[in-house]
Parts: sequence; structure tokens; C-alpha cells
Amino acid sequence: MSAAGKITSMMRISSLKKLVTDSMAIDMGTANTIIAVKGRDIVLDEPSVIAVNELSGEITAYGRDAHDLLGREGRDITVLAPLNGGVVADFERTKKMLAHFVRKSKSGGSQMSLQAVMSMLGDVTHVEQRALLNAAEDAHIGRVFMMEEGLAAAFGAGVVPRDKRASAVIDFGAGTTNIAIVARGNVVHSRSERIGSNEINLALANHLRRHRGLQVGEETTETIKTTFATGFMPDDVSKSIVVRGRDVQTGSPGAVEITTGEIYPVVEGIIRRIAQVISDTLTELRPEVASDIYDRGIILTGGGALLDGIDQYLRNFVNLPVTIADEPRYATVHGLLSMFDEPELLEKVSRNEFHFLQNSEIPFEA
Ligand SMILES: Nc1ncnc2c1ncn2[C@@H]1O[C@H](COP(=O)(O)OP(=O)(O)OP(=O)(O)O)[C@@H](O)[C@H]1O
Ligand SMILES: [Mg+2]
Repeated sequence: MSAAGKITSMMRISSLKKLVTDSMAIDMGTANTIIAVKGRDIVLDEPSVIAVNELSGEITAYGRDAHDLLGREGRDITVLAPLNGGVVADFERTKKMLAHFVRKSKSGGSQMSLQAVMSMLGDVTHVEQRALLNAAEDAHIGRVFMMEEGLAAAFGAGVVPRDKRASAVIDFGAGTTNIAIVARGNVVHSRSERIGSNEINLALANHLRRHRGLQVGEETTETIKTTFATGFMPDDVSKSIVVRGRDVQTGSPGAVEITTGEIYPVVEGIIRRIAQVISDTLTELRPEVASDIYDRGIILTGGGALLDGIDQYLRNFVNLPVTIADEPRYATVHGLLSMFDEPELLEKVSRNEFHFLQNSEIPFEA
């Protein structure tokens, strides 16, 4: 084949590659894994859990199917979360879970090649980063870009990458709270604490067990938190609901009635700790950055931002404007996805790029 012919044929192959390449954004969090694909937006939103048969070690269910078993598992089945505080706690199972979710999210047949951008915490260690990348390798992703979570959350929350003034974005997740101060598409300051919205569930369960003599499961504390608890002092402290569980004394099924007034201090104990971290971080800023944040206030993202009145609580605590991003749970994945429209920015912000199993390379044939 002539040189010109070769070039034409290469061009054809490269445009063909574009057609058959899925561009995937993956936000693998402590509680949820969310995947979006370019052109299709969110394609997967499932709990980051698996069900394991204790006898065989085999994984029997993933994601939502596994989560549905939680609290009512069969005798030999354990439901576990292989990620803890946003990091890979159980490497082998994280790999399998990610591979399963990626397979489920692919557009076409298994031949579809893949590039992905994944988020990771700003303070992950080299070992933790390797573990995530290896997990991606197992999922047969051709190219993996890793991007700092705070930056992704900021872009997804509407921060413009070219904006020279600073914005403060808080990702209040299940296991971590990440504060990122972003200017001109860079993280100028960040802090991440391994305390998240799940702490509220633990505090509620503790309170009910110790003060009301009732043991409750995860599903119950989640319902209390998402439908009844408030992040600000309720006007009506006598509003009540009945909570069911297991009586600590007798071991029998039991129920107690709780009020908003009883629950508020339990929730407040946790959000005060988070508010304190945010407030401390805001004292660490350089004057110009502080002045931008003083004007603009802070933006909340992550599932924890959905707690009723959390914005009001933080507004009072830090004395700054506080807004909640649109679809706060999807801010990070939307930020990651937007990188495919800005390849140069992706190149600049990606903390690492690895070429794994070269399934993104369609061999050139003369
Ligand atoms: N309506 C709601 N009210 C209060 N909390 C909520 C609500 N909806 C979700 N949450 C909480 O948000 C958390 C999940 O948020 P998110 O999906 O952002 O976490 P994650 O990304 O998995 O965790 P991390 O970023 O810490 O690894 C859970 O703790 C969940 O209980
Ligand atoms: Mg998250």
C-alpha cells in the first residue's frame, strides 16, 4: 500500500475507533458507584456493595441486588463494602465489583473499547492509587485517567475551569468530607477528612440502642436520616415517628416513638464536627483566595448535602453564603464526564495516565 493509502487507512481506523470507544466517567464512592457515559449521561447508580457466600468465597450479588439483602442476609451470605472511607479496603473484591459495573455500563458488545476518567481523593497514597488503577485494569479499561475528586466535584457543580477567582466546593459523601478550593482549574487548597454522612446513621443507631433500648438496622437509620432528621433546629420538636427493631432487653421485636426534638441533637453532634473542619479549612487560605470565598461562599455537593437544612446550619456556622449544587450526588461524575469535552484540560488535570491492556489500540493492518 502507498504511503498516502496507509495514511487514509489510518485515518479511517482512528475515526472508527472514536465510534466504538465508550468514554466513561466513574465515581466509585464509599456508598455508591455512579457511572456516566458520554452521550448517555448517568447509566449506573448503585450501592458499592457485594454479597459474598462465606463458605465458597464466591460473590453472589453486586450493587443494588446485594444491597437489597442487607440486614436480612441468608445464613452463609455476608454483604460487604469493599471500599472504606473512599479507599480500597478489599482489593480483590473492589476489582470484581468495578469490572461488573463497567460491564453493565458498556454501550455495545464486549468488543467496545473504553477510556475512562475516575476520581480519587486528593490525599490518596501511592499504594491506594495503584490499587484503584489495578482495579480499572481488571475491568478491561483501555485508558484510565485519574482526577482529583474535589476538582471533579467543582466542575460538576458549575465552577468554570478558566475562572481565575477561587470557589470553595465541599463534597459531603458517605465516608469522607472533601473540601476543595479551586481557581483556574487547579486545586489551590484542599482538605479531606474520613468523616461523612454515614456517621449520622451510626450516631442514630447508638442513640436508639443506648437511650431507647432498641437495636435497629442500616435500612432503618437511613430512613430516619433521609425522611425525618433535620440539619437545623426544627420548629416543631414534637413531630414523631415510630421506629421498629429489636428490643435490647428482651431480644424480641419492639418499637419506640421518637421525635424530631430528640433526634436533632444526635444529628447536630455529627454535622458540627463537619462544620468545624470546614471552618478550620477556611482559616488556612491566602488573603486573595479568602476574599473570593467571602464574596462567593461555598457550594455543597455529595449525598450528604441532601440532609434537610444542612445548608442553613452551615450558613450560620461559617457565616458565609452556602448553596447546594444541582443534583449534588451527581456533581463528581458530571465533572468527570465534562472532561471528555476538554481533552487538553483532562491531560493537564489527570494525576496519572496509564495504558493498560492495549484493547484501545486497533492493530494497524496494511
Ligand atoms: N435525602 C438524603 N438525606 C440525607 N442524607 C442522604 C440523602 N440521600 C443520600 N444521603 C446520604 O448521602 C451519602 C451518600 O452520598 P454519596 O453518594 O455522595 O457518597 P459516596 O460518594 O459513596 O461516598 P464518599 O464520597 O465518601 O466515598 C449516604 O451517607 C446517604 O445516606
Ligand atoms: Mg463521593
